[in-house]
Amino acid sequence: MKHQIILGIETSCDETAVAIVRNGNEILSNVVASQIESHKRFGGVVPEIASRHHVEQLTIVLEEAMKEANVTYEDINAIAVTEGPGLVGALLIGVNAAKALAFAHNIPLVGVHHIAGHIYANRFITEFQFPLLALVVSGGHTELVLMKDHGDFEVIGETRDDAAGEAYDKVARTLSLPYPGGPHIDKLAHEGSPVLDLPRAWLEPDSYDFSFSGLKSAVINTLHNAKQRGEDIKPEDLAASFQESVIDVLVTKTVKAAQDFAVVQVVLAGGVAANKGLRARLEESFKELPDVELTIPPLSLCTDNAAMIAAVGSVAFEKGVRSELSLNGNPGLMLKSF
Ligand code: KG4
Ligand code: ZN
Repeated sequence: MKHQIILGIETSCDETAVAIVRNGNEILSNVVASQIESHKRFGGVVPEIASRHHVEQLTIVLEEAMKEANVTYEDINAIAVTEGPGLVGALLIGVNAAKALAFAHNIPLVGVHHIAGHIYANRFITEFQFPLLALVVSGGHTELVLMKDHGDFEVIGETRDDAAGEAYDKVARTLSLPYPGGPHIDKLAHEGSPVLDLPRAWLEPDSYDFSFSGLKSAVINTLHNAKQRGEDIKPEDLAASFQESVIDVLVTKTVKAAQDFAVVQVVLAGGVAANKGLRARLEESFKELPDVELTIPPLSLCTDNAAMIAAVGSVAFEKGVRSELSLNGNPGLMLKSF
């Protein structure tokens, strides 16, 4: 069988990434240039700075990825690029680079949804079995996605306000921790105990939706009230209590959805999937459901990368999906089946 080789490009937020993937599940190269250091002093991603970094880094990252994979443009069957959602200026850099390469080398172009990418990061670990449920937790998204086949996505639950990662980053800022706050809260949480009583937004009994803004406000109020009363709250206990509340809701709803939809596989996806507490609790909970295979990607595949974009591109390309050279970055792109 002839190999299929996909070039993936991802520039939707603050990582400039290019990867080469063979047959949809084998990484030949996966190069990521992170901009975190540049955004840290602003306490979040500054869109204009992100775009400028992508322009500076993309050709370097591209050359490195091609070299590491030991391929030429003649070997590439398709170029997959993140079309959205994300920061419009950042998306445009990747999309325009992909279009230029596709045009210059006469290679088919495939626009990819960033969240589909996060889900497909799991395909480097194991082959998908359907029906599959994905818990997607990132800086911009918190979703439960049901898949009955490759390229078939049904969002059965999503956040009504803040994304889980966003809540982590905001709580971290309240505790004066550096950006991005998720890993810092995670570390702090393991040094404390969940002794503070914080809310859990279960919403309607049958809803798979999430809400984290009430929890975030409760953390801020708890700190504020303690300060006014001259009481001391241990930051590690606050972090542990916050993390406990987030994990409790995420895991309980994931387990319920897995049972309700009788899925055979559950995959974890997105930057917050790097959370040690979440990984441990999911593993513990799914031990009690031996008929469901739980897949958790390694940390390097949880945060933004281009291998995951190439993985979706591979399946979409096989299914005949092609993008025109008029492809544009779409910051509000919806997750659609293909
Ligand atoms: O998926 P991602 O790299 O970018 C988006 O597409 O949003 O996710 C980034 C998010 C940030 O909010 C970051 O704080 C969070 O993932 N994150 C974590 C951890 N590592 C990264 N959140 C909780 N615990 C972690 N260990
Ligand atoms: Zn992401």
